[in-house]
Amino acid sequence: MTATLRVSGLSATYGARTLFSELDLVLGPAEVIGLIGANGSGKTTLLRLLAAAGSQHCDDPRTASGTSASANAYELSTGEGRVATEGTVSLSPSDATIGYLPQETDRLPGETVRDFLARRTGVAEAELQMNTAAAELARGGKDRYSAALERWLTLGGADLDERAQKVMAELGLGVGQDALTQTLSGGQAARAGLASLLLSRYDVLLLDEPTNDWISAGSNCSNASSRTPVRPWCWSAMTVSSWRAR
Ligand SMILES: Nc1ncnc2c1ncn2[C@@H]1O[C@H](COP(=O)(O)OP(=O)(O)O)[C@@H](O)[C@H]1O
Ligand SMILES: [Mg+2]
Repeated sequence: MTATLRVSGLSATYGARTLFSELDLVLGPAEVIGLIGANGSGKTTLLRLLAAAGSQHCDDPRTASGTSASANAYELSTGEGRVATEGTVSLSPSDATIGYLPQETDRLPGETVRDFLARRTGVAEAELQMNTAAAELARGGKDRYSAALERWLTLGGADLDERAQKVMAELGLGVGQDALTQTLSGGQAARAGLASLLLSRYDVLLLDEPTNDWISAGSNCSNASSRTPVRPWCWSAMTVSSWRAR
């Protein structure tokens, strides 16, 4: 699916501090945008806001907008605080998928490589939604199952295991999918992070401080095959970084 992400007049503040204001941008199909900013300038906050707007599960188009900052406060998944926002973020078509991938590999206690890849590719969340929808349907509730199944398929849930096997072999990860991520070496964890990117089938990818490897893997369709033959995917991407490549 081709997707367009539109940001209009977006401002974000933590308490009295304004991180950015009146931000407008359009990320079109297969486009890649790079944004460079100093540490602490609000890059991660911006990407998390875009990801949050893209994952709103509502019947209306995925739009977060309004005029009152307090009424539009997103709760960031870090749980460290609340950012107040104004402006509009919209994703079209409204069922396009958007994924946020921090470079720093967030290894959770007890999580296997399989679970890690399912989480970072959005397949785990989609599967949860699918199971919830199935239970709701069985109780005679609203039919959300077809949409949930569609999303799981779109995110590549059906063959994630097989694809993961190939990507992990290609990257030389050297462990199986049942390995716990917290037992991986730094190098293996970095490769697991790269594997999650290569396996992602989001329409729009938000890459936070990607390494050079990630940038080559995440660059748009035209030259993707040169580096990773296992990734036949084509996405729009926005990358943020605090350094400028020479
Ligand atoms: N949970 C929070 N509560 C209050 N302030 C925060 C919180 N998270 C980030 N900030 C502030 O927002 C600024 C931008 O953070 P961040 O988006 O992580 O920047 P970057 O990714 O550009 O380094 C930080 O310098 C910090 O002052
Ligand atoms: Mg950051």
